[in-house]
Amino acid sequence: MPADSTQRAGISGPLLSSDATLTDPAQTLRQTFADAGQDHVFANWDTLGERARRRLVRQLETIDLGHLAQMQGAISALQEKPQRRLAPADTFALADEAFPFALAEAARAVAPVGERALSRGEVGVVLVAGGQGTRLGFDGPKGCYPILPISAMTLFEVFARKLLHARAHFGRTPALYVMVGNHNESATRAFFEQHKCFGLDEGDVQFFAQGELPALDAQGKFVMAGPDALWTAPDGHGGVIEAMAHKGVLADMRRRGIKFVSYLQVDNLQCPVADPAFLGLHIAEGAEVSLKVVRKQDPSEKVGIYCLDDGVPGIVEYTEFTDHDANLRDPAGRLVYWQGSIAVHAFGVEFLQRLADTRTQLPLHAALKKVDAVGGIGQAHKFERFVFDSLPLANKVVCLEVPRQEQFLPLKNAQGPYGPDGVRESYQQYWKQALKLARPEQPEPPIIEVDPALCENARELSGAIESRVIDTSQPLRLAQGSL
Ligand code: UTP
Repeated sequence: MPADSTQRAGISGPLLSSDATLTDPAQTLRQTFADAGQDHVFANWDTLGERARRRLVRQLETIDLGHLAQMQGAISALQEKPQRRLAPADTFALADEAFPFALAEAARAVAPVGERALSRGEVGVVLVAGGQGTRLGFDGPKGCYPILPISAMTLFEVFARKLLHARAHFGRTPALYVMVGNHNESATRAFFEQHKCFGLDEGDVQFFAQGELPALDAQGKFVMAGPDALWTAPDGHGGVIEAMAHKGVLADMRRRGIKFVSYLQVDNLQCPVADPAFLGLHIAEGAEVSLKVVRKQDPSEKVGIYCLDDGVPGIVEYTEFTDHDANLRDPAGRLVYWQGSIAVHAFGVEFLQRLADTRTQLPLHAALKKVDAVGGIGQAHKFERFVFDSLPLANKVVCLEVPRQEQFLPLKNAQGPYGPDGVRESYQQYWKQALKLARPEQPEPPIIEVDPALCENARELSGAIESRVIDTSQPLRLAQGSL
């Protein structure tokens, strides 16, 4: 073990003294865990060798036992159905309702504000990719999934090429910060290295690891992954707020003059990386947090809803809606609570810094899930933080409605509309429709792919291909440079 990591762990000498008793650092830790009712974590101590003991102590020193009360609270909250005082919240519209979704007047008015921020280098992109991708079941980071139908371009490359698109439009490449988890950090870094950051400057791409949280069994005890390790999992996309502060991201942003964060998730194929209208609205309205929503497809769609909860703007999970509220319609027959969050945000760097300075943590949420731990697979309570819990902490929140077809196409599952086939199918529909508008006289190609560096949405397509000759009799890949 390198000397510096021993120091970081605060261990200065052997953990096993000659008479096989515990030395001071481990003894103190053992007492602390015993006081918290968690002394079982030392149950195998006597059988462990020196290295395993160090490993265990190092891990236990990172565990915040202060979280235990929050964890218990989050478990209790699973049983409660609090009475909520909900009300609809105001929302701006990005576009009109018909394809190709021409920008609405309000969006046109604020877009130059976003463009200015982008051309001044005041926007950084945070791409969260630290999840485990359990539902997709892909062997590797989700960002390495080959999603585009002809080139098999991966999600990471798609986002990198969207940044190249931003560079072409605004003269600056927004810096990219990729949040990873301990489980996929090395694979993600290696993937970017292997592909030379997909054409981005290395200095403009950074990785930072989110935190982990332990799980609790039915008796409220930490689940063990082995005799010398607690079972832990990533602390949720909400872990981004703490990780940005602790891993130097906020400091780096301030150094670079970045004032606004464009936050997106690696699985949303159609999400723009730096949307000038959205950023412009965020800036012009003086918001601390902004979000994008789409119109809910039907009352039972499993999506968090943006609304006022006791007068405070936030996202209320679909599970917390009563049937009555979920089905409520206005006189025109439209859902009253229609604003489905797509987990796309803009943040002020100052706001994130304030949360860091005041050591504000987002709440923990519990979920009973399968955990593959010592003794086999069982159920335990896992804990996560959700990024949208930052909304109620902001002095001002602004919400923008975007067209679902244009901006929301997440790869979540192994099958179904949000599985690889379903995502490629929706992708085809969108871009074939876009091509039809740009080239009404040409027949539909059997299959289409559009390079994200060339063009981001249907509105841009005809300008991007101009008067070039396009052969639609074969699979059509519209790529930058190849037209
Ligand atoms: P999801 O909540 O859909 O989770 O994450 P997931 O990990 O991709 O997939 P499942 O639930 O295990 O099947 C939405 C986005 O948030 C990121 C994911 O990488 C994805 O981009 N995320 C999620 C994190 O960065 N960290 C987390 O701890 C959880």
